[in-house]
Amino acid sequence: MPKTIYILNGPNLNMLGKREPGIYGGKTLDEIGTDCRAAAAKHGLEVDFRQSSHEGDLVNWIHEAGEKAAGVIINPGAYGHTSIALHDAIRAVNPLPVIEVHLSNIHARESFRHVSMIAPVAIGMICGFGPIGYNLALEALAARI
Ligand code: DQA
Repeated sequence: MPKTIYILNGPNLNMLGKREPGIYGGKTLDEIGTDCRAAAAKHGLEVDFRQSSHEGDLVNWIHEAGEKAAGVIINPGAYGHTSIALHDAIRAVNPLPVIEVHLSNIHARESFRHVSMIAPVAIGMICGFGPIGYNLALEALAARI
């Protein structure tokens, strides 16, 4: 049975392709999901790719991943900067490996984006490389699990 990686996407990421393409690029989230499935298959992994703009959905999916997944890649969107609930959810499923991804370089943007609630409980964080960041995270997880 191939191992499954949950790839979770937070608020506003369903708008990719239309949303500030100068910052986030022109790919839609569906296209990123398709690329992730292909990249995961090369590592013998399966991907469960989801998006929600509701913090509680993301919390519940992290708990579910604790039961069903070999690892999590999360682009928490703006909740990454604010959500103690997501931080706590990741702690609750420890030692499940979690990698935080942001398309944009959050450290080169507004100061409110420089803080991450996720990074201290993730095994690593990748930002600034656009959709390739998801592939890099898959590679890192594949090496780890
Ligand atoms: C983002 C960065 C966040 O600051 C922002 O709120 C997003 C997208 C990114 O992928 O670059 O929604 O997570």
